[in-house]
Amino acid sequence: MGAYEEVYRKSIEEPEAFWAEAAAGIDWYRQWDTVLDRTNPPFYRWFSGGELNTCHNAVDRHVEGGRGDQAAIIHDSPVTGSIRTITYRELRDQVALFAGALRGRGVGKGDTVIIYMPMIPEALVAMLACARLGAIHSVVFGGFAASELAIRIDHARPKAMIIASGAIEGRKTLAYKPLVDAAILQSDHKPDTCIIFQRDFITAELTGPRDVTWQEIIRDAEPADCVPVLATDPLYILYTSGTTGMPKGVMRDNGGHAVAIHWTMKNIYNVEPGEVYWAASDVGWVVGHSYIVYGPLLKGCTTVVYEGKPIGTPDAGAFWRVIEQHGVTTLFTAPTAFRAIKKEDPDGALLGKYDLSRFRALFLAGERLDPDTYHWARKLLNVPVIDHWWQTETAWAIAANPLGIEKFPVKPGSATKPAPGYDIRILNDGGEELGPEQEGNIVVKLPLPPGTLATLWNNEERFVKSYMSTFPGYYETSDGGYIDEDGYVFVMGRIDDVINIAGHRLSTGAMEEVIATHPDVAECAVFGIEDSLKGQIPLGLVVLKAGADRDEEEVAAELVQMIRDQIGPIACYRQTAIVARLPKTRSGKILRGTMRAIAAGREYRMPSTIDDPTILDEITDNLKKLGLPR
Ligand code: COA
Ligand code: AMP
Repeated sequence: MGAYEEVYRKSIEEPEAFWAEAAAGIDWYRQWDTVLDRTNPPFYRWFSGGELNTCHNAVDRHVEGGRGDQAAIIHDSPVTGSIRTITYRELRDQVALFAGALRGRGVGKGDTVIIYMPMIPEALVAMLACARLGAIHSVVFGGFAASELAIRIDHARPKAMIIASGAIEGRKTLAYKPLVDAAILQSDHKPDTCIIFQRDFITAELTGPRDVTWQEIIRDAEPADCVPVLATDPLYILYTSGTTGMPKGVMRDNGGHAVAIHWTMKNIYNVEPGEVYWAASDVGWVVGHSYIVYGPLLKGCTTVVYEGKPIGTPDAGAFWRVIEQHGVTTLFTAPTAFRAIKKEDPDGALLGKYDLSRFRALFLAGERLDPDTYHWARKLLNVPVIDHWWQTETAWAIAANPLGIEKFPVKPGSATKPAPGYDIRILNDGGEELGPEQEGNIVVKLPLPPGTLATLWNNEERFVKSYMSTFPGYYETSDGGYIDEDGYVFVMGRIDDVINIAGHRLSTGAMEEVIATHPDVAECAVFGIEDSLKGQIPLGLVVLKAGADRDEEEVAAELVQMIRDQIGPIACYRQTAIVARLPKTRSGKILRGTMRAIAAGREYRMPSTIDDPTILDEITDNLKKLGLPR
C-alpha cells in the first residue's frame, strides 16, 4: 500500500483517531471531550469541549518557541514601492496592542467585526486581533461595491469595522472611506466604531465619534492577552456568492480550522516551519484566509503579503522577482495569474533574470487549470505544478496531489486524488452512485473533515437546504465532474448559477437581480462565457419592455454601470445582447446550459422540453453580433 492510500484509508475509516492525532500540532488550553460530535447531523462538531486560541497558535507560541526573530510577514508592495518585514515578536506585540485597542472600543468575545482592507500587514493584524479576543471577523474583498458591503453589514451586524483609508489597484488609487460611509448609510445596522488605518498616500476624513484612526487608538492601548475560546466557537464568517443576490456567510470554527489548516501545510504543501510560503491572492477570499494568514502562521512559516498584480507592477516578471528576493519555496495562486503572465511574456524571457533555485512547487486553484496553462507553467518553471480543487465552504483542498504524503504523476485537467478526510462520490441527479469515468454531481459523504464550514451564519435553514438536502447524507459541492479508473478527480465546472471570473467567485443570479431593476428591462439571463484570460466572464441576455424605444448600446452601457455600482468592478460585466425573447422550457425555466454551449460554439442537444426551438437561431444570431463564439 502506498503512503497516500494508508493515510487516506485511516482518514475515512477512523476519522476520530486520524484528526485527534493531527490535533497534536495545535496548543490547547483544555483537551476536547469528543473528537467528533455526531449527535445532530448534518451539523457535525469537531473537538467539542476543547479550548484554544487561534491567535496564540498562529503567533505567540512561535515567539515562545524561539521564532521571535524570524520574519512572520514580508509585505512586498510594488504599488507603493515598499518592502517591510515583521518578525513574529513584532507581530505578537502589534496584534496584542491592537487587540487591546479593539477591546477599548467595546469589542469582545462573540462580537462580529467587518474588515475592509487591501493587502497590507494591518489586515492580518486586524484578523489576528479579533481571533485573540474571541471576536468573529468577516473580511470583505475590496473590489465589492458599497451595496455589497451594506448587505454584509446588515447580515453580520458588526460591532466595529476596521478599514484602510484606501488602496492602489494596479495604477489606480482608490479611496475606501467614501465607499464605507455609503455602505453604512445604506445599511440598517450601524457599527458603533469604525477604525481607519490611514495610509500615507491617502487620508480619510473622519465623520463624528464613530470614526477613529488606527494610529490614534493604539497610542494609549494596553496589550491584550489571548482569550480561550471553545473549539466550536466561530473564528470567522466569510461571505461567498450563492445563486442569489444574498451571499452565503460561511462560518468557520476555531478548533477544527486550526487543526486542519495546520495539517495541510506539511501534508499537502510539503512546507516546514521557517520556510517562505506565498499565496498570491487577497485576504478577502478564502485562499487569503487559509494560506496568506492562518496556514503559514500556524505552521511558523514566513508569509508573503503581496500588494501588486502578476503583470503591470511593473511587468510580467514580478512573480519571479518576489520568489527570488524573498526565497519563496511554495507559491499558490489562480491559473488566471499565469494566463496573464503567459500572454505578456509567452516565452518566459523575464524568468531568465531571476534565480529561482529555492522554489519547489507551484499550486493553482480557484478555477479549472486548463491543460495549456499547466504545460506552459510546468515547462517554464521545471517544478511540480499542482492543480487542487476547493471551495470557500471547505477552506482547504477537497482534491489535491498531496506532496507531503506522496507525489502522484500529474494528469493535466485533474485535481488528482481526494484529499484525506474527503470521501468523494459521483451521483446522478437521482442520487445513484456512478462508476469511474461517468460524469455527474460531485458530492462528499458526511461527515466533512474539520476546517470545513460548520454552518451558514445565522441561517441554519439555508445551510441544510443549499448543501445537505439534495443528496441526504452527502455534502453537495455544486460542481460537476467525474473520477477516472485511477481514482483521479476531474472537476468540470459549476452546475449552478455561480461563475468563476479570474478565480473570483460571483453569482450570475445576483447580476440578474441588478439588471432586472433597470426600468426598461422586462427579463434577463446572465451566464458565464469562456474567456482566454479570466476563465469565464459574464454575458447578459436582455429582453426590453414592450414599447421601450431605447438605443441598445446605451442600455448596455447603463447596465455595465449598474453592475459596477451595485456589485463592483470585480464582476467584470461588460457584454449585453438585447434579444427579443429568452429560450425557456415549457415550464418557464431558462435554458442556460444551451446558451452557454451556443456562446462557446459547442455542439448541443436540442432540449426536448424547449418551448420554441426557433428561438435558438435567434440567440445564435444575436451572439454572433457580439463576436461569439470566439
Ligand atoms: N479593490 C478594488 N478593485 C479591484 C480589486 C480590489 N482589491 N481587485 C480588482 N479590482 C477591480 C480592477 O481594478 C478592475 O477594475 P476596472 O474594471 O475598473 O479595470 C476590476 O476589478 C476587474 O479586476 P480583475 O479581474 O482583477 O482584472 P485586471 O484586468 O485588473 O487583472 C489579472 C487581471 C488576471 C491580472 C487579475 O485578475 C489577477 O491577478 N488574477 C489573479 C487571480 C487571483 O488572485 N485570484 C484570487 C483567488 S486565488
Ligand atoms: P471559491 O469558493 O471562490 O474558492 O470557488 C470555488 C469554486 O471554484 C469551486 O466550486 C469550483 O467550481 C472552482 N474551482 C476551484 N478550484 C478548482 C480547480 N482546481 N479545478 C476546477 N474548479 C475549481
